[in-house]
Amino acid sequence: MTPRRRLLNLLVAAHAGERAAALAYRGHHRSLPAGADRDEIRIIEAEEWHHRARLALWLERLGGKPWLPREWTLAAIGGTLGPLCRISGWLAPMYGAGFLEAQNVNDYRVGADLARQLDLAELADELQQFAVVEDRHETFFRERVLSHPLGPWLPRWRAEAGRPSDAALVGDATG
Ligand SMILES: [Fe+2]
Ligand SMILES: [Fe+2]
Repeated sequence: MTPRRRLLNLLVAAHAGERAAALAYRGHHRSLPAGADRDEIRIIEAEEWHHRARLALWLERLGGKPWLPREWTLAAIGGTLGPLCRISGWLAPMYGAGFLEAQNVNDYRVGADLARQLDLAELADELQQFAVVEDRHETFFRERVLSHPLGPWLPRWRAEAGRPSDAALVGDATG
């Protein structure tokens, strides 16, 4: 697969993933009592929507487009996970969020590398910036998980460095 195709696939996957994350975080912060956690997750939700809007713009510029089956599937997952937070307690959603954020950090670093290879410096900088933001999200959720009595006993998540987590699932969906 060419670097351009890999990059487009990664952007398509991230575009769908950002909405799933935003919807899940919306449900999550709404399930929490007023306080620092609720405020922070509300900010994280806004940052995910911002990422998605920027990715939509880049996809358009590069001649790609969102892949609807993936968009719908992930929106359904995100929209289901959010309200579930009301019954699951906060540890499981924060653990899951931290796991996914670690994947996001890795994906955006991979995307930035690909963009650099393709001389898309502006996109590379922006994806690198996204990775920094996702890293902050991951740190927030990791610290919250570790503050739970069970947290230190849970396996630590780890992204596969240098490899897009699931962009390959998109296959040849992009132009
Ligand atoms: Fe994001
Ligand atoms: Fe994030």
